[in-house]
Amino acid sequence: MTSIKLMLLTVAGVGLGLSACGGTPEGCGSDTWSSYAEGFFADHCSQCHGSGFETYSLVVGDASSIESAISSGAMPAEGSLSSSDKSRILDWIACGEPE
Ligand code: HEC
Repeated sequence: MTSIKLMLLTVAGVGLGLSACGGTPEGCGSDTWSSYAEGFFADHCSQCHGSGFETYSLVVGDASSIESAISSGAMPAEGSLSSSDKSRILDWIACGEPE
């Protein structure tokens, strides 16, 4: 069961990466850490994680666990993201976390 779930997540992750980046730079949009992601983590994660995701280097260092926690729906715990918020932050990660 767990491995099927992981496989699906991997497929979804690859699909996301391709659709988000697909060789066209404009596919990745203009979201950066300072214009968008910093506020996202402050709004949705800091109430529990404190300063754990406060800086760019902390988030980039943990990007793969963050990506799987968000895409699986495990995080934010006790909360939820709209599907547009969810795909926007996952796109930012898939596009290489522009600073
Ligand atoms: C309501 C509190 C709460 C919120 C909000 C929350 N977290 Fe968590 N998070 C936790 C707790 C508690 C743990 C450790 C226990 C666990 O793994 O469930 C955790 C663990 C994690 C982990 C490590 C475990 C794993 O699955 O790899 C990551 C990564 C994570 N959170 C990311 C996030 C992100 C990103 C957000 C914002 C989108 C977020 N969390 C929002 C409470 C929260």
